[in-house]
Amino acid sequence: MSDQQFDVIVIGAGPAGYVAAIRAAQLGLKTACVDDFTGKDGKQALGGTCLNVGCIPSKALLDSSRQFWNISHNFPVHGISVEGAKVDMGTFIGRKDKIVKQFTGGIAQLFKANKVTAFYGKGKLLKGNQVEVTGKDGSKQTLAATNVILASGSVPIELPFAKFDGKAIVDNAGALDFTEVPRRLGVIGAGVIGLELGSVWKRMGAEVTVLEALPDFLGAADADIAKIALKEFTKQGLQIKLGAKVSKAEVKKDGVYLSYTDKEGEQSLVVDKLLVAVGRRAYTDGLLAEDTGVRLDERGRIVVDEHNHTGVDGVWAIGDAVRGPMLAHKGSEEGVAVAEWIAGKAGHVNLDTVPWVIYTEPEIAWAGKTEKQLKDEGVPYKVGTFPFAAIGRAVAMNEAIGQVKVIAHAETDRILGVHMVGPGVSELIAECVVAMEFKGSSEDLARIVHAHPTLSEAVHEAALSVDKRAIHKG
Ligand code: NAI
Repeated sequence: MSDQQFDVIVIGAGPAGYVAAIRAAQLGLKTACVDDFTGKDGKQALGGTCLNVGCIPSKALLDSSRQFWNISHNFPVHGISVEGAKVDMGTFIGRKDKIVKQFTGGIAQLFKANKVTAFYGKGKLLKGNQVEVTGKDGSKQTLAATNVILASGSVPIELPFAKFDGKAIVDNAGALDFTEVPRRLGVIGAGVIGLELGSVWKRMGAEVTVLEALPDFLGAADADIAKIALKEFTKQGLQIKLGAKVSKAEVKKDGVYLSYTDKEGEQSLVVDKLLVAVGRRAYTDGLLAEDTGVRLDERGRIVVDEHNHTGVDGVWAIGDAVRGPMLAHKGSEEGVAVAEWIAGKAGHVNLDTVPWVIYTEPEIAWAGKTEKQLKDEGVPYKVGTFPFAAIGRAVAMNEAIGQVKVIAHAETDRILGVHMVGPGVSELIAECVVAMEFKGSSEDLARIVHAHPTLSEAVHEAALSVDKRAIHKG
């Protein structure tokens, strides 16, 4: 027997789950959201990985560290010198914690305003769309709903020889809370987390070595963009070792002793802290009772159709726990769409135009296909590129690094992909996503007036360049 009956119960209050809950409530559905994340104050902290230990805190530290780095690396170019700049670590970490608290509290407010009931505990789907909630004190209650949305997210993948201990060997959460700048930071995995958090601590003065197993840098990005990014990161002092296979990480009194092999043979490295960022896996531990009928694929992700339905009546799944990129905004859009499908409306998510952003400096952003993917698929295409070095605004900012690359279909001119590395590209990608969503052509982008002088002129000129008519390109 259930204690309470809802139209919708969402398990997980990350960017997928909490958004689904709010949208469902907006549509007049009686909604509950179950989450067991505990904040630093010992209370329930809604917002999942993204708000608590992911997107938002990492951006706070990226921004603080960037300010510090600018003092020594950019101020002099502008004729400004600052003597004896130093960082107070309490303020540095405290500012980040305050931002997290502001936003997790903001979700609690939004839940109240929208009449979403929050349950603090671990949710488990039982047969017949019931959800068992186990509180922190072990107490259990059972809720029931017409629809259950599984939004349990993902957790870091652990390497068997480098288990997280929260002190010397850490995951993303640990690397957001160092109490002092590590003298030597090792990072396993040159992916999104490794590069972002590696950048934070490099800017703060750490010696950072990133060990990446694959021979290619940022394999998911367009090769030209990855090449420029690698050159810039190396210039900043990030030591990125490609083709590095780590076999051992031994924690000793004076550091973590790593053994790895690369093309030059056996190598060793000693670091003070080790961040392991080798990807994440769908988190479904303890989520499903045995007889629910919900299936997992070979990678442990919840199986869903194109409408995020699990095939079990009234059971849906969204976000990192299902197929598709593990990105907050992708999960949120799925959350909105599922709430709308449940309410009998037309939901919509286009996984082909989900933008990717890496918040390093320079930033990296893309949407759609890379040249390599199009080549492999045998799709005929044409390319236009434009460097930020020829963009007045970028030069004035002393950030004239990188380029924009627009890829369009050779015959129809439809935009198939846009790839960028450079200043502010996390924002510039948005107009390209709009163009792609509207099935726009490079000609469309080229004919749109872009303000001068702005960074967005790089997008305009790259689109013009597709048909070799960029104005400021020799
Ligand atoms: P990732 O998939 O981006 O990168 C993992 C890297 O580790 C890959 O380059 C992989 O080749 C390498 N690797 C795997 N096993 C290894 C090993 N044994 N030794 C050395 N290298 C190894 O995963 P990451 O950085 O952990 O991030 C997880 C997820 O979080 C990403 O998929 C991303 O979707 C999401 N995320 C997104 C952010 C954003 O949108 N800006 C920021 C942070 C995370």
